[in-house]
Amino acid sequence: MGRTQKILLVLIVLIIAIQFIRPERNIENNPSRYDIFHKTGQPTEISAMVQSACYDCHSNHTAYPWYASVAPVSWIIANHVKEGKGHLNFSDWKLLEISEQQDALEDIIEVLEDQEMPLKPYQWLHSEAKMTPEKSTQIINWAKEMKLSLN
Ligand code: HEC
Repeated sequence: MGRTQKILLVLIVLIIAIQFIRPERNIENNPSRYDIFHKTGQPTEISAMVQSACYDCHSNHTAYPWYASVAPVSWIIANHVKEGKGHLNFSDWKLLEISEQQDALEDIIEVLEDQEMPLKPYQWLHSEAKMTPEKSTQIINWAKEMKLSLN
């Protein structure tokens, strides 16, 4: 066997081997009653937008595409979900203090104004999560109103 063939073989074996390291999935079965949109009469247009743009990384329910099963992509996704939920989890919203909710709304406004969220590579892969100026303005206005209503 030639050198190149050996290297290729090692690579293939490695790629297969890493598939056995499977991160735990972020899928809670029951819809959370602590979710920000649970029985609130919030406009469904807003909830649909926020759910499709943010929930994969900021809730207890990630919708996994097929490639999410393939390592190392699966590891990267698991990491985004872990980090994203660490900052903000819409599924646990009602467990936050009012002041924490206000801070979180402020952060949401900030990341949208700075066009930091959703993460860019995510937007390339998810057309439904693409953040247009119109969508962004709508979510920002909603967050501002909600923040005021908490005062
Ligand atoms: C693909 C995963 C992903 C998606 C989708 C996503 N986020 Fe994030 N978000 C992250 C990660 C990872 C972090 C933490 C690291 C960072 O700040 O870049 C984060 C951090 C945040 C923070 C905290 C920022 C700070 O400075 O403390 C806020 C607020 C936030 N996201 C809001 C949103 C909103 C609102 C949406 C939807 C419009 C969204 N995110 C969509 C992954 C995501």
